[in-house]
Amino acid sequence: MVQKFSIKFPVPQFQFQPDFSSMENMLHLAPCHASVPDCFIVPPDQLPPAASAAVSLPVVDMSGSRDEVRRAILDAGKEFGFFQVVNHGVPQQLLQDMEAVCDEFYDLPAAAKAHLYSEDRQKPNRLFSGTTYETGGHKYWMDCLRLAFSFPVGDSTAGWPDKPQRLREVFEKFAVLTRGVGMELLRLLCEALGLRPDYFDGDLSGGDVILSINRYPPCPNPSAALGLPPHCDRNLITLLHTGPVHGLEVLHDDDWIKVEPVPDAFVVNFGLQLEVVTNGMLKSVEHRVTTNAALARTSRAIFIQPKEDCLVGPAEEFVGEDNPPCYRTVTFGDFRRKHSVVKLGSSLNLTTNLKDIQKDIR
Ligand code: OGA
Ligand code: NI
Repeated sequence: MVQKFSIKFPVPQFQFQPDFSSMENMLHLAPCHASVPDCFIVPPDQLPPAASAAVSLPVVDMSGSRDEVRRAILDAGKEFGFFQVVNHGVPQQLLQDMEAVCDEFYDLPAAAKAHLYSEDRQKPNRLFSGTTYETGGHKYWMDCLRLAFSFPVGDSTAGWPDKPQRLREVFEKFAVLTRGVGMELLRLLCEALGLRPDYFDGDLSGGDVILSINRYPPCPNPSAALGLPPHCDRNLITLLHTGPVHGLEVLHDDDWIKVEPVPDAFVVNFGLQLEVVTNGMLKSVEHRVTTNAALARTSRAIFIQPKEDCLVGPAEEFVGEDNPPCYRTVTFGDFRRKHSVVKLGSSLNLTTNLKDIQKDIR
């Protein structure tokens, strides 16, 4: 009798996973996307929809009296952690030029941008897909041109793209003026908080300034993918110029609030370092970016941050017998390295976890 036996071979599981680690697969280069690959899908319980229609963030008119402006910043900052500033002094024409040049850049053929593409997070100037956070393979529906410069600028923009032709000139003007608005806001905050006006000058704001040009192409399944995961910015203060397309959402009283874009305004939010310095009086608030099926969205952000070796801790003015320090004093570099991981579903970036992040730093 012939004994029958079967040998089980492992059946290879072929699953199509597009290679999103190469330039050709950057989201903005495809004429359109028919579907959302698995690596972008966020489980529905981790993508609760916004609570209501879009709301306008508190508006701070910087042309008001100094007294009014600093009170408005502090009130809005305490209430939402986010606000917008108008009459900030950056010319409308420059904002329009900036928007146009960003579009021109993303419209360039792939070959003209290939030299900028890099997965290396250490590179100061690079083009990539997704976020700067380590996400364990999960993908976000965003392409990003991230550029660094120092201040004063000198030749620190030498590695910036030189196409389209007017990119450097327009980007540099925008970056310098927008950083200036951020520094002025920091001075106003100091006055409002009782810190000496130049508290944030020097190393606390003296790290490389980052200019991020975020591009969120139309997404065929907006309820399943995010442009950016829920996060708090890890720097000192962020200024964001968004076009007319919705996408930014801010966590407020446990609900996601859709932010109504205001033309020519900067959206301002406090980074985690400002929360640490003020010993939690000002909070860095969580936010995310949703996608939409119809329109590409581009946003431009300026991140002001401390020098890598700058020790950041609660200012003496916020610490006393009744106010023990809530945060440790650590270098910004150590903090940044620790705060680089986003795990789907567990927001490492919530304020409550800020202390945990610090705890792990030796
Ligand atoms: C960021 C960010 C928001 C946006 O880049 O950190 O939150 O609307 N961007 O692009
Ligand atoms: Ni952010």
